[in-house]
This record gives sequence, C-alpha cells and structure tokens, in this order.
Amino acid sequence: MATKVILDCDPGIDDALAIAFAYGHPGIQLVGITTVAGNVGLDRTTANALAVCDFIGARVPVIEGCATPLVRPALDARKVHGESGLGGAVLPVPMSRRAEGHAVDFIVSTVLDAPGEITLVATGPLTNIALAVRREPRLVRSVRDFVIMGGSSGRGNTTPAAEYNMWADPEAAAAVFGAGWTVTMLGLDVTLRSGASAAVLERMSGMGALGHELLLPALGGYRSSAVGGGQPVHDVCAVVHVAEPGLFGFVPALVSVETAGRLTSGMTVTDFEADDGNARVAMTIDTSRFWELTLGTYASLAAAMAEITRSPVPPTG
Ligand code: RIB
Ligand code: CA
Repeated sequence: MATKVILDCDPGIDDALAIAFAYGHPGIQLVGITTVAGNVGLDRTTANALAVCDFIGARVPVIEGCATPLVRPALDARKVHGESGLGGAVLPVPMSRRAEGHAVDFIVSTVLDAPGEITLVATGPLTNIALAVRREPRLVRSVRDFVIMGGSSGRGNTTPAAEYNMWADPEAAAAVFGAGWTVTMLGLDVTLRSGASAAVLERMSGMGALGHELLLPALGGYRSSAVGGGQPVHDVCAVVHVAEPGLFGFVPALVSVETAGRLTSGMTVTDFEADDGNARVAMTIDTSRFWELTLGTYASLAAAMAEITRSPVPPTG
C-alpha cells in the first residue's frame, strides 16, 4: 500500500525533482503539495509547483502557505536556483489553479482526519510546519512520520554554519525541532553526496520530455555543487527515503537550532551523545542504489508521460 505524503516545499530545482519522484514512485501517494517562500518568493514557488504538476500529469492539490519567515525578512536563493526558481527549465504556464485555503490548515486537517496515515515531508524552510504545530499540537503524534531535507551535523551551505532551509527561518526550525516529535533529518551529511554525475545526466537525456524539458535544464541551471561533483539533488533524498527507508543510515541525536548567533544563526547543533533525542539524523547514503531508484522512477514517469501524449486522457466532467 502506498505511503500517503504531504510535501511542503519551495520549488526550487531540487524540490521540483522531488515532486517528480514522489509522483512517479508507486510507493508514494501524493495527497497534497503545500508551498512556502524560500528559494524564490511564494508566488513563484506556488506557480512552479503547479507548473511541474501539470507538466508531469500530476492531479495533486497545491495549497499556498507562508510568504515570509516567522520573524525575519524573506531571504531567497535565486543565485542558486535562478530568477524563476527552476534553473533553466521553462515549463508551460500551468492550466491548474492552486486550491483554496492555506497550507497550514490543509496540513492540520488532512493529518488529523487520518491519524497515523500521513507522512509529512518538508523540503523548504519550516515556516508552514511551525505554524501548523503551533495551531494544532496534536499534529506531532498524529503524523505517520515527519521527514525533512534540512540541517547538517557539520558544515553549512549558506553560511559555514547553516544549511539554507534552517538558515532561512531559524525560529521556525527551532519550534519544529522542539515540538515533541522525532524529526527524520536528511541533512547535508548525506544530501551533498547525491550529486548528479555525467552518467546520471546521460541517462536523463534518454527520458524524453521529462529529461529534456525539466530534469536536464533545471539541473543545468543549478548553481550548487555536491561532494564528488555534480548537482546535489538535496530534496529528492527526503522523498527517496520515504520510498525506500533502508537506503539511508540514521543516528539518534538531540538537534537544537541556533537563533541568536550572529555567525551561526540557523545552525543545527547536533548532539549524538544526548539521552533524550528529538531526531534521527541521516549519516550514510547508498549512493548507487539512490540513483538506481531515482532514475528508474524518472524513466517510468517519462514513459507514462509519453503514453499520455500518444493517447491523451479526455478531460473529466
Ligand atoms: O540546502 C538545500 C535546501 O535549500 C534544498 O531544499 C534547496 O531546495 C533549498 O531550499
Ligand atoms: Ca527546497
């Protein structure tokens, strides 16, 4: 039975690739995509989510969330993801429209209506998640799992101390790690080892429109770099973990988020010696299996897209 997932994201190149993976993998049922300001502004992250969903044929509700962090001004990552937020990918203007309502309300109501069933995945700043747990504390024991791409037990990528998603809204991150649940944290320790090598890009070039109009131009416009080369598909790690949990190795820890440091704001201070942890931190990745699964899923999605192009499904209603 497929795992029901709400994906809270800030598309964003790797968020877009995470949406494609989540929709393309049979073990994941995307029940909703919620958007937050991050890599680019909220209007763009929402438009990008809609455009990606339309492009891959995903009829998944997209619900807009917070336009600014809890306390600080919004600081985007256009220098990494490009002005559009999708690097060099230029997708058709989406026909679908965002769903009514706010992301926080969608997350709370969807999870509480299905206790123990929904895996909440966040691949952007944690603003929506922080407000959701503040609005409804029962959320932390009603989710099946809570998975984030974010943080690092060591180096940052936006400052020497902080990873972008934590750095963009450290107050939200602190509230989320302090909410009482166990956070499954896919941080830079593993995501920086998810670089798309030349061989990976070569495989993508054989994936029709998915490869030529989304995957390759998006990655081609990504101003980031992985350990060992290639563009790191950070956010794909979070949804790949949901699809195949054994692919990552985790260590229990107590994670605290710095909010006051002039140089260290957004740092995820990771204590592996603590008795009362609040997280399990991914420290190992089976990189070859990661790409075998990811490329296999994209290839299946590409084939399904080609099939729809050959014999379009008549509009319902
Ligand atoms: O640090 C990487 C994270 O920041 C990813 O989620 C990327 O999309 C950016 O949001
Ligand atoms: Ca992201």
